Amino acid sequence: MNNYNNLIDLDDYTVPQWNEIIALGEKIKAHPEEYGDACKGKIMATLFYEPSTRTQMSFQSAMLRLGGSLIGFDNPSNSSVAKGENLKDTIKIVSTYSDILVMRHTQEGSAKAAALCADCHVINAGDGGHLHPTQTLTDLLTLKCELGRLDNLTVGLCGDLKYGRTVHSLVKALSCFPNNKFVLISTPALALPGYIKDVIKGRGAEFTEVRTIDEAIRSLDMLYMTRIQRERFDSEDEYLKQRDVYCLTKAKMEYARKDMIVMHPLPRVNEIEVAVDDDPRAAYFRQANNGMYVRMALILYTLTKKPKVKPLLTGEIHNSVTCSNPKCITQTEKYLPKSYINHGDFLICEYCDERILL
Ligand code: NCD
Repeated sequence: MNNYNNLIDLDDYTVPQWNEIIALGEKIKAHPEEYGDACKGKIMATLFYEPSTRTQMSFQSAMLRLGGSLIGFDNPSNSSVAKGENLKDTIKIVSTYSDILVMRHTQEGSAKAAALCADCHVINAGDGGHLHPTQTLTDLLTLKCELGRLDNLTVGLCGDLKYGRTVHSLVKALSCFPNNKFVLISTPALALPGYIKDVIKGRGAEFTEVRTIDEAIRSLDMLYMTRIQRERFDSEDEYLKQRDVYCLTKAKMEYARKDMIVMHPLPRVNEIEVAVDDDPRAAYFRQANNGMYVRMALILYTLTKKPKVKPLLTGEIHNSVTCSNPKCITQTEKYLPKSYINHGDFLICEYCDERILL
């Protein structure tokens, strides 16, 4: 049983709770000075096993603006990880030094694995190509601020929909709100994973798949551009085939509605021409700024809300079944219980959501 306010996937909270966090983010954004002592005496650990600018610094800045303090690393080679320490031992120890632990890791399912070992609240700041729930909170706050709603939206998602964890979490979240439609703009090689499409279908939301921005742009309320995730490809050759396929240009923006907004989790590589930055519809820098406010709200919420006691793993343990995802955390952290949700003809790994056919 777990007695912490973990945020591993947005499903850890209900839609009314997301709304509460986003509303708190709006309040903090309007009057940040009122929250300067809200987390005084509290310590947040940021453990970043993967590069980060915005997520790491906005979390740190959020905690400092709330009056709290920070420990952590942004390069595991400066920690005992370099000596071969496993995830469990690192998390066990750091979580006794801190009140809240924010982790970004290269492997899928690592956030859930960390929560299993931690003695404090755990927040997933990105687990490989899997999920990125706090970017989604950033995105939802941005939609609220820019368009005033989270429903009745036609959202285009363009680029690396396969490995882009921000897309996975955002689609899962937006499909919980009424009348949202998705236009998935990607090459077949970078299409949205089947299990996320099943989530959209299961919630009764509509989606279409197209190859080009031009086919979609006229109909959109929001266009979410993403970087091709070079570091997640199996080979450099595969990456080179997908690189620079998409670029949002000033010329393409001519066809977009006057009230459409462009979002991007950043970092940008070549997928948005710099000239687009001057267009008032380019919301991505405002979006990055919102990330700090929504993380202030999330930290405050996590540290003050009474946790609901619940199990982290709810499936069946099959220690003889190996997850077929080579990037799953269970491949390297062998002590983890191999827990699966049984769907009859396939099992779903409870860490990374991989389906394993029986
Ligand atoms: C994203 C990430 O790390 O997944 N960046 C972010 O958190 N703002 C997107 C990316 O790296 O492409």
